[in-house]
Amino acid sequence: MASVLVTGGTGRLGARIVAHLAARGHSIRVLSRTRGSDAPRGVEEVVGDLASGEGLTSAVAGIDTVIHAASDSSDPMATDVAGTRRLIVALGEGGDAAKLVYVSIVGVEHSRLPYYVAKRAVEREVESSGLAWSIVRATQFHSFALSVLQSLVDDRGTLTVPDGTLLQPVDADEVAERLVAVADGQPLRRIALLGGPEVLSLEHMARAYQETRGLPASVRVGVVHDPMLDAWQSRDQLTPEHAEGRLTWQQFLDR
Ligand SMILES: NC(=O)c1ccc[n+]([C@@H]2O[C@H](COP(=O)([O-])OP(=O)(O)OC[C@H]3O[C@@H](n4cnc5c(N)ncnc54)[C@H](OP(=O)(O)O)[C@@H]3O)[C@@H](O)[C@H]2O)c1
Repeated sequence: MASVLVTGGTGRLGARIVAHLAARGHSIRVLSRTRGSDAPRGVEEVVGDLASGEGLTSAVAGIDTVIHAASDSSDPMATDVAGTRRLIVALGEGGDAAKLVYVSIVGVEHSRLPYYVAKRAVEREVESSGLAWSIVRATQFHSFALSVLQSLVDDRGTLTVPDGTLLQPVDADEVAERLVAVADGQPLRRIALLGGPEVLSLEHMARAYQETRGLPASVRVGVVHDPMLDAWQSRDQLTPEHAEGRLTWQQFLDR
C-alpha cells in the first residue's frame, strides 16, 4: 500500500483516479481548494491552492506518490505551470523521494493554444524535476467531448459542427485506470500515450449524440469560430497507434 496524493482529485478525472486507488487499497489524500468534496470514506482531504502555494507542504507530507491531475484552463500559467513548480519544490523539500505522475493531452507539443502551451510547459517542469516521473498524454475524454458538443447546440436545438474535425475520445475512467497502474509501477521517465478506441469525425459524434437523445437528426456542418476546434483541424490530437481505450463513443452515450 502506498500513500498517494491526488491533485485534482475532485475533478472529472480525479474522482475516477481516487476510485481506482481505493480499489487497490492505497492510502489516499486529495488536494482541493475547498473542503467538503464528496470524496469516498477514508480519503483524506487537504485544502490547498496550487496558484498560491497554500497547503502544499501539508499535502505532500509523508506521500510516496503524487498523481497530478489538477488544472485550471482559465489560468493555466498560475495553476498549472507555476503551481506544478511549487508542487515539485514542496516534494523536494519533503525529503522523501516521491514518484510524480502527470496527466497531459495528446498533441500539446504541436499546439499554439495557450492551454496546450501551458500543458507542454508543465511537462517540461516534470521532466526536469529530478523526481521519479511519468507522463501520460490522453486524448479528449468522452465527457469533455460531450460538453463541447452541447455547447454547439443553438436555441432551436440545431447542433453545428465544423467539417473535417476528428477526435479519438477516451473514457476518463480508463485514463484513471492507466494513471494508477503507472503510479504503481516503476517510473516511466518518458511520455506514454493513451487514445480512445476509434477515430471519429465530430459530425459522426454529433449525429450519434442527437440520435441517442431521440431527437431528429438536427446536425449541421458549418462554420464554427472556436480556437480549440480550429486546433483540432490539425489531427495532432489523435494517436491511432495508441487506440488502447475500450469504451466506444456509442457505448458512452448509451450509458
Ligand atoms: N478533459 C479532457 O478531455 C482531458 C483530456 C486529456 C487530459 N486531460 C487532463 O486531465 C486533467 C484533469 O482534467 P479534468 O477534465 O478532470 O479537470 P476538471 O474536472 O476541470 O478538474 C480540475 C481539478 O483541478 C483542481 N484545481 C483547479 N485549480 C486548482 C488550484 N489552483 N489548486 C488546486 N487544485 C486546483 C480542481 O479542484 P478544486 O476545484 O476542488 O479545487 C479539480 O479537482 C487535466 O490536467 C487535463 O489537462 C483532460
